[in-house]
Amino acid sequence: MAFESSRTCWVDGAYVAERDARISIFDRGVLFGDGVYEVAAAFNGRLLDADLHLARLARSLGAIRIEGAQSAEAWIEIMQSLLDRNGIDEGFVYLEVTRGVADRDFPFPADTAPTQFAYARPKRLRDDPNAAGIALASVPDIRWSRRDIKSVALLAQVLAKQTAREAGAFEALMHHDGVVTEGGSSNVWIVQGGVLRTRMLSNDILAGITRAVVVDLARELGLPVDERPFTITEARDADECFMTSATSFVLPVTSIDGHEVGDGAPGRHTSAVRAAYLERAERLTRHS
Ligand code: PDD
Repeated sequence: MAFESSRTCWVDGAYVAERDARISIFDRGVLFGDGVYEVAAAFNGRLLDADLHLARLARSLGAIRIEGAQSAEAWIEIMQSLLDRNGIDEGFVYLEVTRGVADRDFPFPADTAPTQFAYARPKRLRDDPNAAGIALASVPDIRWSRRDIKSVALLAQVLAKQTAREAGAFEALMHHDGVVTEGGSSNVWIVQGGVLRTRMLSNDILAGITRAVVVDLARELGLPVDERPFTITEARDADECFMTSATSFVLPVTSIDGHEVGDGAPGRHTSAVRAAYLERAERLTRHS
């Protein structure tokens, strides 16, 4: 990987050039995928919904019993500093906490401090070229049963998203026996008869921060939200389909497994929700 010499990340208490950033081969994140992560958007040079992402981080850490990670306030300062130091106006910050460094042994090591790091990247969010519509490819969901934990063990999603890419699609539509769980790194929604439908929260999916915000925005727009599972066939036959994530906001899905959704263009409810999401992001981050 080529590192831009000017980029700065943060590793265990210090800001360092990305090319100089190092963690141990004995880090449990490397050996076991024993860690959790978060990705929060940056808009107008500010963090978007960082408080919600850090609340989910705390929940993930608690679920896998990693102790000693820094406070939400400390993370917010680091994340904002990474945006400032790297001159990022629109993009995202990635952060990871692993159980730390110890000789390879499956149970938790005693007295090991977590490894913590973060970096920031620019990404077009407002004028995302994918807002013209994306393709999904269905892939069986082969993950473990605690998908509510934002674990760094993402091999199933790596394989799902590679399969989608090889099928010419932007995102994987993961399913169990034809019933949709979520996207490879997103939540998926359909619109049928003016009602928005997305799978209810449980251990089967990640509780997306964007999903939660969109549930509220939809209600403000007067669009009913039905939190219920749906099948791939229902998604293909829906009036509209869209996906949500911190790094894509709201993106229209215009085809699934090569079949057009609706008339093959972004749907009007999807467009209304995306516009409302962008307006909210603008309002929350605009410099005064
Ligand atoms: N992924 N479901 C899965 C499996 C995800 O990995 C993500 C986010 C989401 C959407 O959650 P949120 O709205 O909080 O971003 C749903 C991030 C963006 C990633 O792994 O890069």
